[in-house]
Amino acid sequence: MKRSKPLFIARQSSSPKGILGWIIAKIMSSETAGENEVAVTLLQISDDATVLDAGTGHGRTMTQLLKRVPRGKVIGVDASAVALSIAARTLDRALLSGRATLHCCDMEALPLSEASVDAILTVHTVYFVENLQVLFREFSRVLRPGGQLLLVFRPDSDEIDRDYFPEPVFRFRSLEVVRADALAVGFLEHSCEEDTFKVGLVTFLSLRRG
Ligand SMILES: C[S@@+](CC[C@H](N)C(=O)[O-])C[C@H]1O[C@@H](n2cnc3c(N)ncnc32)[C@H](O)[C@@H]1O
Repeated sequence: MKRSKPLFIARQSSSPKGILGWIIAKIMSSETAGENEVAVTLLQISDDATVLDAGTGHGRTMTQLLKRVPRGKVIGVDASAVALSIAARTLDRALLSGRATLHCCDMEALPLSEASVDAILTVHTVYFVENLQVLFREFSRVLRPGGQLLLVFRPDSDEIDRDYFPEPVFRFRSLEVVRADALAVGFLEHSCEEDTFKVGLVTFLSLRRG
């Protein structure tokens, strides 16, 4: 029998709210652990770098980023206050020490100054963005010149169960479309690889701010 995911549950992935959102954000933490772990290793950063995890959700990846930058800082942003409440518990001491910061905001309007971060990681978030060029321009604004943007997403070349990931909520795109939008706003391609994880095929597209 075909699985079907009601629209309200799919919407929770795009913006977790209430008790159900809390449960979904918790589940997501283990569902997406594999590709997040690989993503952290693909960042080319010094140990004093400032890294942004855009759409951090549960914040699990931020704890790993903190290990990669023992003298640096990790900033997490997410539009969901519920997801950030989970991240805040996980990051507890790092928040107190100022090594980690969390902002509840839209990643298309970051509360960060120009050229203030060395690298940006964003995992399974681009599906929820209508116009990728708007997002990439904002990422370009806060990245220092030469800084790395690592986009991690499921490409539409994978077999995606559209009942489970309904179109109005999830926008799956091809690697070519995502790459073209990034290059159009001035990013330079650095590397691209794909691998299969619990969720399916995942693309890691690494770019540099020109
Ligand atoms: C599918 S979850 C992925 C969470 C985490 N990055 C991971 O890989 O497990 C998507 C997250 O992005 C957040 N999100 C979606 N659209 C956003 C936006 N425009 N600005 C900020 N956060 C957003 C959601 O609230 C959610 O926590």
